[in-house]
Amino acid sequence: MGFHHWHGFEFERTERKTSSRVLISRLLKYFLPFKKHLLIVALTIVVSSVTGVIGPYLLGMEIIGRYILTSDYSGLQLIVLAYIGILIINWISEAVRTYNIGTIGENMLYKMRSDLFAHLQRLSFSFFDRAVSGDIISVVTNDTDSIGQAFTSGIVMVLSDVISMSLTIVVMFMINLELTLVSLIVVPMLIATALAFNSRFRATFRATRQTISGVTSKLQEGISGIREIKSFTKENDTIRDFTRVNQQEFQANFQANIVWGTFFPTIQFIQALGTGIVILYGGMLALNGSLGTIANAIGVLMTFTLYVSRFFGPIFDLTNFYNVVEGALAAAERIFDLIDKQPEIKDAENALELQSIKGEIAFNDVTFGYVPEHPVLHNVSFRIKPKETLALVGPTGAGKSTIIKLISRFYEPQSGTITIDGKDIRQISQKSLRSQMGIVLQESFLFTGTIMENIRYGKLEATDEEVINAAKTVGAHEFISKLPNGYNTEIGERGAGLSVGQKQLISFARALLRNPAILILDEATSSIDPYTDLLIRKAMKILLKNRTSIIIAHRLSTVRNADRIFVVDNGRIVEEGTHRQLMRKKGLYRHLYDMQFREPETEKQAETQTMPRMVPRGFP
Ligand SMILES: Nc1ncnc2c1ncn2[C@@H]1O[C@H](COP(=O)(O)OP(=O)(O)OP(=O)(O)O)[C@@H](O)[C@H]1O
Ligand SMILES: [Mg+2]
Repeated sequence: MGFHHWHGFEFERTERKTSSRVLISRLLKYFLPFKKHLLIVALTIVVSSVTGVIGPYLLGMEIIGRYILTSDYSGLQLIVLAYIGILIINWISEAVRTYNIGTIGENMLYKMRSDLFAHLQRLSFSFFDRAVSGDIISVVTNDTDSIGQAFTSGIVMVLSDVISMSLTIVVMFMINLELTLVSLIVVPMLIATALAFNSRFRATFRATRQTISGVTSKLQEGISGIREIKSFTKENDTIRDFTRVNQQEFQANFQANIVWGTFFPTIQFIQALGTGIVILYGGMLALNGSLGTIANAIGVLMTFTLYVSRFFGPIFDLTNFYNVVEGALAAAERIFDLIDKQPEIKDAENALELQSIKGEIAFNDVTFGYVPEHPVLHNVSFRIKPKETLALVGPTGAGKSTIIKLISRFYEPQSGTITIDGKDIRQISQKSLRSQMGIVLQESFLFTGTIMENIRYGKLEATDEEVINAAKTVGAHEFISKLPNGYNTEIGERGAGLSVGQKQLISFARALLRNPAILILDEATSSIDPYTDLLIRKAMKILLKNRTSIIIAHRLSTVRNADRIFVVDNGRIVEEGTHRQLMRKKGLYRHLYDMQFREPETEKQAETQTMPRMVPRGFP
């Protein structure tokens, strides 16, 4: 009984902001759909407790005391059958209870996790900017788990403990008052021991939890950072780092073992003491005849010994109950905190559904900062005509990606308005706004799955043929067909197994499949080999045709082909014009260009070069 829920110690006792009552009433909502199951659980708790108490009584008092020792075999068969019957009922009711508790617990976990995940998907970018993904993951996995555990092995266990303890004591009293009082001496001893160890358990479990999280994070770094580790030949340092946290984990576990290792023998000692007391004192009572016949006396001793050995489980559960509940409530608070987070960007009440659009985009005096006090765009205004191709260039950190995130309404400006075809994007539903756009982000993300699935992500109802056509159009077909399984090649996490250029081509195909009115493209900044560059350049020509396009360009080939170029610096558009106009102007654009091509080579070579990016902030 009862050692399996020491997870209750895992939680530090941190200050809670929400009252237990609020948390419990919110938690109860998750249990409400299971009224029937809960009723069955309550019933089985009673049945198991009663049969659990009757069993030892039948065995000690009846089978041994009344029949076997008196050689009365006539009634024995019946009572043995009754005993077996009780065992079977106990067994069935335990099984039914476990099944129902499992059903409730697992369903609740399932529902909570689904709710949390769906909620996370609806939250805005700004939430994810601030959140630590490890923390969110731990809420969705560990915290939900600890609530389930608190219910299954905490509350239910304690309920059944209380009932069976009380029943046991009542039955003991009925058999013999004096012996019961003496046997109960072990109870305070057990309680004292459990409480004395309580804080040590908490300390050791806090320590093991912290050290294991150290091991996990070093492990994760060692795996996902393996490329950098090997490039900088830091294998040995990494191993040393890991050994250090692993040693801490070892120490913590070792301590935990020592604590548990002293706890159990102590408990066993007290239990043996209890048995000893029962037999010694009971023996004395038997000798002076107050336990009736010798046969009856032996039956009493037997029954009491069995009962006393069953005290420990409930006492341990009860002393541990507070930890389990407190841990679960702390977990519940974290869960509800997350569920209560509102998406910062919501659809307006009667949000417009965009149908087909021309694709005119305008910024009117837009000021925005990820942190409102620190604007990264200052009073930006511009207008992009339908089907125009606009290139954004500028030093790193200037605000180029920020501009396109605002157009997609991933963030909302603090002041000013953004319109599409003259309509304020705040009045348009986010879904219909984004369905007009094909967005290729700076770090394009591929999901685990096949290449086919990854391209189809742009338009889920697309046929295989449409997918392949899109890939052909952007020039990705050639390399895909050369892969071992063609379009069905599985790609790893984040597109592992593909080159940067190949990933980019796939995200192009994905965006093209949507056939969007507005194409937004944040070019990958890493330089690309001339051959892939040629492919991408060709792909771009097709992508840009017949739609409004905004491209954050790092390659001159893209920049030169744009209808207009905006030079962004320090959150402002500082220059605008065509490549020729800007070259003549001899401003920042010209400077950026010259930095890269101080010794102008042939035009062809120059075109595959990338724009310089590491310009000091605030230049010139
Ligand atoms: N999620 C964010 N939270 C807070 N600040 C951010 C966030 N993203 C960008 N910034 C800040 O906003 C400014 C503009 O960033 P932005 O990503 O728009 O630059 P960029 O012009 O796209 O640069 P690059 O050429 O390197 O991609 C930078 O100073 C950056 O530090
Ligand atoms: Mg950027």
